[in-house]
Formats: sequence, C-alpha cells, structure tokens
Amino acid sequence: MTNLTRRSFNKQMLGTLMAYGLIETLFARDLFADAVKPIITQWMKDLSDLTKDVKDGKIKDLDFQAKLEALYKRVDLPELLRLLDMDRVAKSVRLPEHGVASRGIDLGKVEGLPKQLHFGKQIFCMKKGRSVVPHGHDNMCTGFIVLRGDFEGKHYDRVEDNKDHYLIRPTIDRLFKPGECSTVSDRKDNVHWFKAVTETGFIFNIHVMGYNRDNPRSPGRVYVDPEGEKVKGGLIVAKKITSQEAHKKYG
Ligand SMILES: [Fe+2]
Repeated sequence: MTNLTRRSFNKQMLGTLMAYGLIETLFARDLFADAVKPIITQWMKDLSDLTKDVKDGKIKDLDFQAKLEALYKRVDLPELLRLLDMDRVAKSVRLPEHGVASRGIDLGKVEGLPKQLHFGKQIFCMKKGRSVVPHGHDNMCTGFIVLRGDFEGKHYDRVEDNKDHYLIRPTIDRLFKPGECSTVSDRKDNVHWFKAVTETGFIFNIHVMGYNRDNPRSPGRVYVDPEGEKVKGGLIVAKKITSQEAHKKYG
C-alpha cells in the first residue's frame, strides 16, 4: 500500500469506528524507536495474528476468547503502558462527567510493528464512579485489559435476543485490577459493564468486527439495562435502551 492509500484507508477506517461511536479522538503514537522493547512488539504481532485468525474464521470465537485471555495474562504490563504512551494519554485526556472518553491509538509509526494491525483498539478513560455502560455486541469479539485503576466488572451471557430485550444470565461479577482482563463474543459473556472505583480508570480495548458469518447483523453495540425483571432460571430481562438512556442511568 502506498502512503497515500494507507492514509485514506486509515481515515476511512477511523470514520467507520467513529460512526459506531467506538472512537472519539485518535491519538497518534509519537515514538522514539528505542523506547519500545521487542517483547511488546512481538506481543502486538501475536495479538494481530490471533485477531486475523478469528476474523478469517480459522478459529472459533470461544477458542479466540481463551487465547486472547492467555495472551493478555502474559503481557508485560509496564511495557504495554509505555507502548500506548499511557502517561501522555492520562495527562492530556479530558474525562467526561458521564461515561468515558475513548482514545484511539495510531501505532502505525512504531518501529517493529506491522503497518496494519488486524484489530481495532482504543483506551477507555474515566473518572471514579463512571462506567463503560452496559451493552451487548452483535457480530463482534472484544477484549478488555485494565491498564490503571480498579473496576467493578460485570459480564452476562446473552441467552435470547428479542425485539425489545435480551434475556441475560450473569457470568462474571468481580473486582478487576491492573493487568486483569475479560473478553466478549456472540456466544460467551456478550454483555459487559465496567465501573471505575478508583479516582481514575483506564482500560485497553481491542475489537474484531464482523467475524461471525452465521450472524447476519452488522457489527455494533446494543445498549441494555441489566437491572431488569428477574425471571426463572436465574435470567434477567434486559430491555434494549438508547445510548443516552444507558449513560443517564449508568454513565
Ligand atoms: Fe463492549
């Protein structure tokens, strides 16, 4: 790809992510080559290969989730923070009153990394008590790893997808500390909700969109209210709500 077409490709990609509300600002990593160690560039390459495999249908989503969690668990967290220029992000980001700021990260100039990574990525940044509000995902695999701060993290399986609500089953409900992770797919832990319990909180998120050939829906988020009616079998009626409603109640 020439520089020009790569630039227009990146611009288009960014436009798509903005349209989904996944990225608000793009943060270009400006880097001295010697600041990044080979171990973290290799880790990013492994992550890119893994995301390509699930996107290409070479591995199933449940395997992807297990492998992504294993990969997250062996990351050198201080090196990841350095690669993402976490100090600069924390200093420059404006934390919103509700919800999160999502900082896109352009790693295209980092020496040793492939020019094109096969996953979308961002850092969610928030104040204490603010949340990545509850939402499910259509046709997406995603993964969180906590960079800084502690979070109350909850996941739910999407058991049924109805016109105006999901039926969900709680699967994870615990404290997440830096370096801890969780993942999402159409089949497992599809709905998540993360609330910062320290002064500030930062999460690195990666996503693969449109991985599931059996799901005719376009990739995207579906906001739901997990504090709905409890019905038999430990299930909860989680109404589909708008982003505004989700942010008003949980942001
Ligand atoms: Fe999500």
